[in-house]
Amino acid sequence: MKKVVLAYSGGLDTSCIVRWLKERGYEVICFVADLGQGLGQGENFEAIEERALAAGASKVYIRDLQEEFINDFIIPALKANAVYEGKYLLATALGRPLIAKYLVQIAHKEKATAVAHGCTGKGNDQVRLEVAVGILDPRLEIIAPVREWEFKSREEEIEYALKYNIPIDVTKKKPYSIDRNIWGISIEAGVLENLEQEPPEDAYMITKSPTQSASYPRYIEITFARGVPVKIDGKIFKIKNLINHLNEVGGQFGVGRSDMVENRLVGIKSREIYEAPAATILYTAHKELEALVLDRELAHFKEIISLKYAELVYYGLWFSALKDALDGFVNKTQKLVSGTIKLRLSKGTCVAVGRKSGYSLYKKELSTYGKEDKFDQKLAEGFIKLWGMPYKR
Ligand code: ARG
Repeated sequence: MKKVVLAYSGGLDTSCIVRWLKERGYEVICFVADLGQGLGQGENFEAIEERALAAGASKVYIRDLQEEFINDFIIPALKANAVYEGKYLLATALGRPLIAKYLVQIAHKEKATAVAHGCTGKGNDQVRLEVAVGILDPRLEIIAPVREWEFKSREEEIEYALKYNIPIDVTKKKPYSIDRNIWGISIEAGVLENLEQEPPEDAYMITKSPTQSASYPRYIEITFARGVPVKIDGKIFKIKNLINHLNEVGGQFGVGRSDMVENRLVGIKSREIYEAPAATILYTAHKELEALVLDRELAHFKEIISLKYAELVYYGLWFSALKDALDGFVNKTQKLVSGTIKLRLSKGTCVAVGRKSGYSLYKKELSTYGKEDKFDQKLAEGFIKLWGMPYKR
């Protein structure tokens, strides 16, 4: 029998897919990637496994990939300051190539000839998964049932699930489509499709409303070593705990929400809201530290790289030669990105208010207006003459 490895979430779609693939002659192996979707609270993976088996899977792989996700995907994106269209810190997009990597790995181990996923035909995630799988093993067949199956609505899927005893949670009809992992949450559909309307409070899962959060601010210090966050308030944290902690604290102060209309790769605009407290705090701190230690030309050039890097992640080109080459550049820039940034969290905002680094290029004796001034102002006259010379007629 032909074998297929399915990226399984435990939801209605992927549960129906198990049965649907079986009806088409496949033995179905489910793969569940733990990217921290429990967000520190833990996800019930036993229940997901049971559901997969009950839906007809012959085997279920559950892999905790959080460390690898953080070290090989999140940290490189943080070092690059990669942000898509100024607002999206790429949590969902960064997870896809990692899921693809394990789909391929498990397919090889199981001698499967195909992989499958539950993405729709309108989104970016199908592209990311399939492009990555195609790069890693072009011989694998890729099946995307949601793009081709007969169900026209959620109700029809539920009917199908009930008919074949596929265990599903029909009690709570979720009003949104949600993707989450340790780096953030993406929420779309439902009332969010009305662009004129403010997202209702119930759409947000881990952040307090900025208007309801504490009236006092919270100060927090993040220490980086070579571009990697290592301490909070002087205390060393393991990276996973550090991110979980910042999600918690940032969420309390309503930090890390964004509401955007974005340009999808498949040519449409869509509205999505995001929650990424830890990512927002870390990006703010990381950029502030770079402002202190990178020289002007390097800093400005790196901004161009950030834009390109974000596009590559968003476009599903993680395993491309360009992304690899940009990592080489970015890693070089991080050699001196060590130091501590003090931030103030308050009512949905996160701003840097203090900075310190052994590699700081800030020289007080040059920038001061006080009497310790060492800047030779006479030099400015000649400098300006030469600098402006080419533009005079
Ligand atoms: N728009 C985001 C992206 O393309 C998130 C996609 C998934 N969103 C969701 N709610 N399931 O990366």
